Amino acid sequence: MENYKRTITCGALRKVDAGRTVTLNGWVHRKRDHGGLSFINLRDRDGVIQIVAGAGLSAITVELRNEYCIAVQGTVRVRPENMVNPEMPTGEIEVDAEKIVILNRSEVLPFQIDEETNANEDLRLKYRYLDLRSDGMARRIRLRSETAFASREWLTTRGFLEIETPTFIKSTPEGARDYLVPSRLYAGKFYALPQSPQLYKQLLMVSGFDKYFQIARCYRDEDARGDRQPEFTQIDIEMSFVNREDVLTLTEGLMGYIFRKTLNVQLPEKFTRLTWKEARERFGTDKPDLRFGMELKNFAPFVEKSDFSAFKDALAEGRHAQRVADSKGIRIAGAGVKALVVPKGATFSRKQIEELEAHAKIYKAKGLAWFKVGANGSMEGGVSKFFAPQTAEIVSELGVTPGDLVLIVADAKCAVANTALGAIRSKLGKDLGLYDKGKFEFVWIVDFPLFEFNEEENHWEAAHHLFSSPKEEFLDDKEKMENDPGAVLGDLYDLVLNGCELASGSIRIHDPVLQKRVFAIAGINADESEQKFGFLTNAFKYGAPPHGGIAPGLDRLVMLMAGESSIKEVIAFPKNTFAVSPMDDCPSRVEQKHLDELHLEIKKNAHM
Ligand code: AMO
Ligand code: AMP
Repeated sequence: MENYKRTITCGALRKVDAGRTVTLNGWVHRKRDHGGLSFINLRDRDGVIQIVAGAGLSAITVELRNEYCIAVQGTVRVRPENMVNPEMPTGEIEVDAEKIVILNRSEVLPFQIDEETNANEDLRLKYRYLDLRSDGMARRIRLRSETAFASREWLTTRGFLEIETPTFIKSTPEGARDYLVPSRLYAGKFYALPQSPQLYKQLLMVSGFDKYFQIARCYRDEDARGDRQPEFTQIDIEMSFVNREDVLTLTEGLMGYIFRKTLNVQLPEKFTRLTWKEARERFGTDKPDLRFGMELKNFAPFVEKSDFSAFKDALAEGRHAQRVADSKGIRIAGAGVKALVVPKGATFSRKQIEELEAHAKIYKAKGLAWFKVGANGSMEGGVSKFFAPQTAEIVSELGVTPGDLVLIVADAKCAVANTALGAIRSKLGKDLGLYDKGKFEFVWIVDFPLFEFNEEENHWEAAHHLFSSPKEEFLDDKEKMENDPGAVLGDLYDLVLNGCELASGSIRIHDPVLQKRVFAIAGINADESEQKFGFLTNAFKYGAPPHGGIAPGLDRLVMLMAGESSIKEVIAFPKNTFAVSPMDDCPSRVEQKHLDELHLEIKKNAHM
């Protein structure tokens, strides 16, 4: 190798280098033979350059195959004008080879290395090291590195310390299932892998570090989806002596820097804000995609005067549920009838509408009612006949124009109507191309409910996690929280980008008494809280400072920056949808000896 070490990378060569003698190292991307001449596209991580090898080198060029790793010595020269390739950054030049050496041969590849790999996902993941040679994957992994670096740079210059927290921790409930690590020394005991560094970063605030961050690995045993992996990375942040505004401003600054530095995109200094309630009502979701409008409208006022029984029944059922809840002292939101106006949707066929209905049903809608707006502003088809007498009011309230399609969902739970139509809105946004794919629309969602009622288990639980503080106005009134948990808003915030939850955070509880009250509402008694979270609540007894933080998901951030829809596209070695790595076949069985040391026994018939 010594004599063939590169003097420059392939992708770095430009016209100004003409005349230079260079040594290049890389892979044969493509080879074409023309009479006595061979044209080799040589690739390294910086790009591709054309090598021209004359007849004198044919003994070696005849041997070359795609993905052979070679060294080339030669002279850079300007290509004749008619040979310039404007598609390639190096397209104005080529290297006239004097010597070519094979550093290593390659077997025939399972798939071709292109801009993007066309093979199916499991094959890509099985040969991930080859998939990563594609230009697309290589660019995204580079973007990820640059994003992590920009985060470190920006936070460090603002006085944040990067502090590692353990990855073997005590198993504590945090929403998802824990991954467990059996202890060899203590039979029957387990470490858990952290779902996030949440409790440790709060302890670091008790310690007085004031400003902490960590590019932290998190582990959650939940089903993988496009934006979820069993292990993922957060840009985890915590600060002392701050309020919500401080955390939001800091995050806006961080995002602004990352986008400017890595993509040369200027973000607005301040991001839009919506309360959780407003987001749900206007967009049917707490992760609204604000790259397009098409807001949900309230259709309930038109139901009573109509004689459409499906909608009237939904309202009646909602009123009944409300009376039952009232008698138990639980606040619920009641029924909802929501409408979505699809501009120019009147061209939709019955089949298309049926497909939308099937989609709404995934989100528990009982059906999807519709009507079209005719040329003269009349309502046509679907449920129009039930509402015809109210045409003028409906047209004006919904703001429809001829050629529109109106979709309606009624449900005894307004959350179902919102969620189902919100899902239809997202689907149509994508299917009809209603937004500019290159746009980045950030929105803060604030004022989430602090508690959620778990109907299956019949108790209140924390909507985010147990350590988030109620908003200050709920703290004065000693009884409000206990009497009406459903009305309590948390000092919680999510950052949403293009319809994807990018980050989540809160101002934390630092008062042990308040923490106990929150535990009690969530049905966690003193013994249980001591056993599970004693190490945190005890720490709070020693002058814990007010603090708060946030954690943007690095994978999701880079995915959205790269315009991708799966975080697998921005992770070097991800798991597939079944939480398996086809490359190294993990998870795998282990030897009996290992299990014995760990005091573990696999149940009979448990193997899949
Ligand atoms: P949360 O659980 O909302 O909050 O997670 C914060 C962010 O992490 C990312 N994320 C994921 N990314 C990929 N795969 C997953 N399975 C996955 N789960 C979460 C998302 C999400 O917005 N400790 C709190 C943060 C805090 O309060 O400071 C927490 O972990 O982008
Ligand atoms: P039906 O009266 O059940 O035949 O329904 C007539 C139309 O109303 C169908 O298109 C159903 O999908 C729709 N529909 C029924 N129930 C609801 C509901 N709760 N919300 C929205 N549409 C509904």
